Amino acid sequence: AGTKTFTMIKPDAFADGNSGAIIKMIEEAGFKIEAMKLTRLSAESAGAFYAVHKERPFYNDLVAYMSSGPIIAMILSKENAVADFRTFIGATNPAEAAEGTVRKLFAKSIEANAIHGSDSDENAAIEGAFFFSQLERV
Ligand code: CMP
Repeated sequence: AGTKTFTMIKPDAFADGNSGAIIKMIEEAGFKIEAMKLTRLSAESAGAFYAVHKERPFYNDLVAYMSSGPIIAMILSKENAVADFRTFIGATNPAEAAEGTVRKLFAKSIEANAIHGSDSDENAAIEGAFFFSQLERV
């Protein structure tokens, strides 16, 4: 039920052993897990996922970072999922993230910022379909 968003627990947070704590926070905040997988992006697939940032100065570093280790991808549902999840994770730059947010608690830098959250309903659908087939969704 509700609307959907897409998230990834990024390589830094997974490597640090913070996945369980983050998933617990996600559930306690009222998001329902509709699909979930542990996987690792190749440089090619990370480049495709972040193609919208291709012209940004941080693109090459971002692709290297996102393909540096395992990630956990999830589709989540909740009323107002996209906006509420972005509030829940906090600002991109952890130095600007609000107290109690995932990024305030777990992010290391503006790049290694622990977690992804889709920025629109349209991108949530695109990003969810990038990782999950219909068979992998409840
Ligand atoms: P996210 O907003 O999930 O998707 C784009 C990612 O690019 C962002 O998280 C960071 O991981 C990274 N990013 C955004 N801005 C910068 C920046 N100024 N420098 C380095 N990485 C960035």
